[in-house]
Amino acid sequence: MRVITHPHELRRSDHKPRVLVPTMGALHEGHLALIRQARTVAGPDGCVAVSIFVNPIQFDRADDLDAYPRPLEDDLAACRREGVDLVFVPDAGSMYHPDRSTKVLETSLSTTLCGATRPGHFDGVCTVVLKLFNLLQPDHAVFGEKDFQQLAIIRRMVRDLDVPVEIIGHPTHREPDGLAMSSRNVRLTPPQRADAPRIHRALFSASEADSIEAILRTAQSGIESPLNRIDYLQLVDAESLQPVSDLTRPSLLATAVFYDKVRLIDNQGIPAR
Ligand code: PAJ
Repeated sequence: MRVITHPHELRRSDHKPRVLVPTMGALHEGHLALIRQARTVAGPDGCVAVSIFVNPIQFDRADDLDAYPRPLEDDLAACRREGVDLVFVPDAGSMYHPDRSTKVLETSLSTTLCGATRPGHFDGVCTVVLKLFNLLQPDHAVFGEKDFQQLAIIRRMVRDLDVPVEIIGHPTHREPDGLAMSSRNVRLTPPQRADAPRIHRALFSASEADSIEAILRTAQSGIESPLNRIDYLQLVDAESLQPVSDLTRPSLLATAVFYDKVRLIDNQGIPAR
């Protein structure tokens, strides 16, 4: 008989590792980088699983949900090329009961940045990710740092609720001109697409300024253009995601920018000074 005192010891270790990459599809090189990392973690004999589900409960605007690209055949072909072992593509009806009444609520990290401007978004993300973890039972799951707040919130959820999944973060994949890859980029018009790399350029050059005020001022003037509207621009503590009052701890400069109805996000880490 084994007597277990630490939750980690409850994890099964007698099976091939399964690594999950949760996505909403419209897969691009950023997603594929996560899938390749999943293979490295799983090993050649392990199982790499990808979920493709445009999760309705994390959208705060019906037009954004309707316009979200859904090129399923291309996505399946990309997964096949990458040697993915398992693709989970549920339909919304099978994921959510009409009278469902339970959700996962994160109450601290989700109060700033995207959580402040998209009410309920991270409840929807946490709820679907926990459901995907329960359904697919991965040992590890890979998330991108492009969605830094999402990654932090999932890590917190897993810690707080003792979910037996190890969360792995992956750096942001960019187009050659610096624009963070996103499934939403295909919805930009050519002039908007040409303008959008200013977001990364501005965050990067602002990160080298030497005061909070200079960082925010440089970022704002670099991002603003006649083609866009800044949803938020914030400098937060990289761990708590709360606004900073000095630069003595690692921080994160993060923004969301609208080009018409297309909302792009990006962020830049700033080391402690
Ligand atoms: P989605 O936007 O499809 O992103 C799926 C995963 O890919 C996320 O972990 C995201 O951070 C990562 N990703 C997207 N663009 C990236 C890039 N340019 N570089 C690196 N990683 C990138 O995020 C979601 O879906 C959903 O909220 C989800 C977690 C699937 C829950 O519905």
